[in-house]
Amino acid sequence: MPWRDHPDPYAVWVSEIMLQQTRVETVIPYFEKWMKLFPDIPSLANASERDVLNAWEGLGYYSRARNLHKAAKIVASNFNGQLPRDLTELHALPGIGRYTVGAIASISFKMDEPTLDGNLRRVFSRLHDVAEFADSPAGEKILWDLAAKNLPKGKAGDYNQALMDLGATICLPKNPRCLLCPLMDMCKARENGTQETRPVLKAKKQVPQYIHAAAVIVERGRVLLSQRPADGLLGGMWEFPNARVVQDPAAELAKALRSAGRIQVKKGEALGIIQHAYSHYKVTVHAFRCESVSIPKDKNLKWVKITELEDYPMGKVDRQIAKIIKK
Ligand code: ADE
Repeated sequence: MPWRDHPDPYAVWVSEIMLQQTRVETVIPYFEKWMKLFPDIPSLANASERDVLNAWEGLGYYSRARNLHKAAKIVASNFNGQLPRDLTELHALPGIGRYTVGAIASISFKMDEPTLDGNLRRVFSRLHDVAEFADSPAGEKILWDLAAKNLPKGKAGDYNQALMDLGATICLPKNPRCLLCPLMDMCKARENGTQETRPVLKAKKQVPQYIHAAAVIVERGRVLLSQRPADGLLGGMWEFPNARVVQDPAAELAKALRSAGRIQVKKGEALGIIQHAYSHYKVTVHAFRCESVSIPKDKNLKWVKITELEDYPMGKVDRQIAKIIKK
């Protein structure tokens, strides 16, 4: 892992943000590219939001990138470009929660601080056979206390990362590889036969499934893109104008786009159907080539050369549509 033993706390910070909700193998190439593009905090602070989102494209959960960018600007202007070692100041930065504080403090600053990510939560839940809901306030308190309990002095970073690695490779969510586990003899869940049911988590809500219709409107080598609002899902990213429909995308497209963004089109051929699961819903997007009838002058709408679509950060669905039209 290229961030291990990295001398710069910034590298650890970037890696920890990327590693939230994303696996190590996926993160490594993104991390390496990122550190070339933005080698230090001032260079990230001075980058455009478009370059930042472009570098993050494909990792998902884009608010992580926007927060990293915002925090870099604050650190550049208020802290001389160096991550503050005061943990309260660190915690106050956008996107840096209790987990990230613990990781940066222990790994980079060599402080005796605990941390608790998804892997550690599972490891501690099993080692101590915690029956409380791990995602409840009471369960979290128990687990943070356990995480703080046996920290070896001066080596909390190694300890935290060793247990993260144990969680990623041995103490797996399903079919944990207990027979290979160096902690087998001290694991209370293993002793009680509860390893498969720890951590105890509240049942996930069923996520809704939506249908969208998207319009690919090309005129003289340019295609119409729409930029999403700065906050919220895929904030600041670009997409083909689209709108939610009830059941028949081909029949509802024109009306839905008109009500959503005053874009008037005539529907043409079907280009493809793309599915994607976000954290809070699933979506099926039906893309159609369309002819423009009337396009409002909105500042979030832009005619973009088809040859320059790569310069515009997009989520997975829209990048797939972009690939289809470039073919
Ligand atoms: N997951 C999150 N942070 C990590 C780290 N520092 N090492 C391994 N896996 C991780």
